[in-house]
Amino acid sequence: MPIIAPSLLSANFLQLQQDCDMLNNSAADWFHIDIMDGSFVPNISFGPMVTKFITSTTKKYCDVHLMIENPDKYAEAFRDAGANNLTVHIEACPHLHRNIQQIKTLGMHAGVAINPHTPVNALADILADIDVVCVMSVNPGFGGQSFIAHTLHKIKQLRQMIDEHSLSVKIEVDGGVTLQNAKSIVDAGAHVLVAGNTVFKATDKVGMIGALKGIA
Ligand code: DX5
Ligand code: ZN
Repeated sequence: MPIIAPSLLSANFLQLQQDCDMLNNSAADWFHIDIMDGSFVPNISFGPMVTKFITSTTKKYCDVHLMIENPDKYAEAFRDAGANNLTVHIEACPHLHRNIQQIKTLGMHAGVAINPHTPVNALADILADIDVVCVMSVNPGFGGQSFIAHTLHKIKQLRQMIDEHSLSVKIEVDGGVTLQNAKSIVDAGAHVLVAGNTVFKATDKVGMIGALKGIA
């Protein structure tokens, strides 16, 4: 069964506690927390302070997705805010290996995200050092966009690389995941499904999470 990671970006921030409670009472495995700086991506979300409020509501695994430049400046702040996994973008990190070591030294799991145009081969020399690969299936910055179909091919390639070397890194797919395409994404080799709008715009949010969990 896939790991389900609802994205709080699509939550109602006027009733954040309620939305976190809903996730806590659902089959959701992870909280996916999206951080945007208005520079690496054309949108601004929130920072460590709001993240800490979110993580304080849950015992579930908190997966923080940094869509920011200079993530090294903020790694410690997000560790203190309760991140279990910290994912940085390969496109924002000229010294990626150093970023990964820093995250691990701070006691978190480490993830690397790749944008839709970045080939999976770019991960070849970092894959053994990380816990999560976040394959972006939309251009990062906004919830509610359509899944880019070419991503399926990348997931398959990545899964092959991981299996060939018997690595334990998880493939997370982020952007445009729906009940309709979830099975093809899992069949391609994904371990973790991020879902923002699909969960939070559903009339029965808990039911939708359960349905995503049960698709495989
Ligand atoms: C996009 C974010 C995603 C986003 C997914 O930049 O990284 O996590 O919230 O939202 P949906 O599932 O609505 O595409
Ligand atoms: Zn994300």
